[in-house]
Amino acid sequence: MKYYILFGPPGAGKGTQATAMVEKYNLHHISTGALLRKEIAAGTELGLQAKALIENGCLVPDEVVEGMIESEFKTVTGVDGFLLDGFPRTLPQAEALDQILAKTGEEVTATVSIMIPDAMIMERIKGRALKEGRADDASEDIINNRIVTYHNQTEPLIEYYGKVEKYHEIDGIGTIEDVRDRIFSVMDKF
Ligand code: AP5
Ligand code: MG
Repeated sequence: MKYYILFGPPGAGKGTQATAMVEKYNLHHISTGALLRKEIAAGTELGLQAKALIENGCLVPDEVVEGMIESEFKTVTGVDGFLLDGFPRTLPQAEALDQILAKTGEEVTATVSIMIPDAMIMERIKGRALKEGRADDASEDIINNRIVTYHNQTEPLIEYYGKVEKYHEIDGIGTIEDVRDRIFSVMDKF
């Protein structure tokens, strides 16, 4: 099984590119953000706990997302691998992922990182806010908090995966098709 991490700051285009990636490589897409939004919409206990954190641009506790990932791994079959969108996002999550995969003799295949500058994050998320109405896209303050959270808590993963030669950075500037082709040229190697 292949285990790809789709990495990148908020609004970089992870969700946008995931569709083409799962189709071409027969992967199951797991977006922890989308799973959490589903819990909020369904009004579950987990959703209620996550709501305020997400809507302030903060991360939910590591154990919550680790549990979600492990249960998806166990229940999904018939694919050649998984595409983890927005997970891991902290060093403890990355270590937990290594441990979860090691239980079945598996490991992370590669981290595909879509990179854009902070000013473009703001621009893209404001554009999406008009179409999708996500609560965490609603104000500049929240978006800025997500950017700060990314730099402080998630960016250290670049070094974590870089050290084991599993970090592959892609320029996220350009058309959706240009970025997709850059991603495919990296993934074709695995
Ligand atoms: P999550 O849902 O993962 O949000 P995110 O990482 O902030 O990323 P986004 O979904 O905002 O951006 P994207 O990269 O998918 O961009 P998109 O393709 O939509 O997480 C939400 C929250 O959940 C977190 O803040 C946290 O609270 C919680 N959470 C999730 N995972 C967690 C974890 N592991 N641990 C703890 N907490 C967690 O594109 C953005 C816009 O740009 C779209 O409008 C798109 O059409 C446009 N666009 C895309 N590509 C291009 C292009 N090439 N040119 C022009 N426009 C483009
Ligand atoms: Mg997304």
